[in-house]
Amino acid sequence: MTENIEKFLNEFAKSLHAETFVKMTLGNYRGNDAHLQKLLVRLVETKKGARLFFLYRQDTRDTAKNFDFAEGVEKVKEVLGRDFFSGHLFTIENDFQLDIGKKGKSRLNVAKPTFKEKPPIDHNREKQVLVNPNSFYLKALGITTDKGEIRDKQHDKWRQINKFVETLGNLFDKSELKDRKSLRIVDMGSGKGYLTFAAYDYFKNTRRIDVKITGVDTREGLVELDNDIADASEFENLKFVKGYINDFDLQDVDILVALHACNTASDEAIFKGIRARADLIVVAPCCHQEIRPQLKSPEMFKNVFKHGIILEREAETLTDGLRALLLERSGYATRIFEFISSEHTAKNNMIVGTKHRKNVDVESLDAQIQAIKSFYGIERQRLENLLT
Ligand SMILES: C[S@@+](CC[C@H](N)C(=O)[O-])C[C@H]1O[C@@H](n2cnc3c(N)ncnc32)[C@H](O)[C@@H]1O
Repeated sequence: MTENIEKFLNEFAKSLHAETFVKMTLGNYRGNDAHLQKLLVRLVETKKGARLFFLYRQDTRDTAKNFDFAEGVEKVKEVLGRDFFSGHLFTIENDFQLDIGKKGKSRLNVAKPTFKEKPPIDHNREKQVLVNPNSFYLKALGITTDKGEIRDKQHDKWRQINKFVETLGNLFDKSELKDRKSLRIVDMGSGKGYLTFAAYDYFKNTRRIDVKITGVDTREGLVELDNDIADASEFENLKFVKGYINDFDLQDVDILVALHACNTASDEAIFKGIRARADLIVVAPCCHQEIRPQLKSPEMFKNVFKHGIILEREAETLTDGLRALLLERSGYATRIFEFISSEHTAKNNMIVGTKHRKNVDVESLDAQIQAIKSFYGIERQRLENLLT
């Protein structure tokens, strides 16, 4: 270990001992985890006393672990110079910036402290708990045990629920709806309803908004079960109705949600949202089956599209890209992003449309849509057909 790394670690340990530690960030990650980006270290008060709270920041989600001081210093020693090649230590006496070069050469900069006082210690500062694992509905839906622990096979679902609530909350806060005291949400293809319940609980009980949510699904058994659980939870404005998205008479809605509604059911949901002038349309499509059989490989891609997986992904990309263009044509600003890391589910693209009042260059968008369709030989796209 070089002298500078050792000095940096000593300062870290010393600051913990002297109670001058504020926080630390390790960056410039070059380890094996394709998703890890940073490690943020703060103090946290636990039942066992002060601990180091390690937040591993990944591209789509975060994970966290607590260590006692000695373990924490050891952990940092283990990864510094092996996985992370920069470190920033903040104490109330000095800031320390460590940079490790490719050949192991390092530089340690000592500067005046950014923070003159230590921040209050609080476990939930980094990550607010948005979904309460003790909620009755999570137990009834089999996500958590009676003690409120996440069931072994439900961790992915649990992460998805949390990420969805966090995403929906952020979208709401950035939208024109943000000051609303009442909200109408429709969840098309609500399935077993985990996400529908979590959204209701979040807006109603965490944000104290007078929310009404309707889940729509064809599966009668699930609709009945969800209505029973909603009753038992005393979620009086959460209802589930049996039916097809296309037949649902959607009138008043602020946020249209459709998560993993299979194939063209996502198009039908988007269409309903557009027609009802929903402020936000939030869809995570799956089972993109409509475009693939229509795709005619353009000559220049002949040897690329011969691989089934490439063709499949191209079809998905084109489907969601066309959906976004059609939303834009209908007066929505759009974003497509990865909703949750593909490690947890393959169905991870989220398309978000936010209604705006600006002029739309319909002609230019139509020209783009038609150019894409004719380049790939696409004849039908469900959302386009519904809109025209
Ligand atoms: C994969 S599940 C997703 C459930 C839930 N949204 C989630 O993300 O956990 C898809 C659900 O959409 C429902 N669905 C598919 N097509 C539908 C349609 N045209 N109308 C209503 N529901 C539909 C299915 O019955 C199923 O429950």
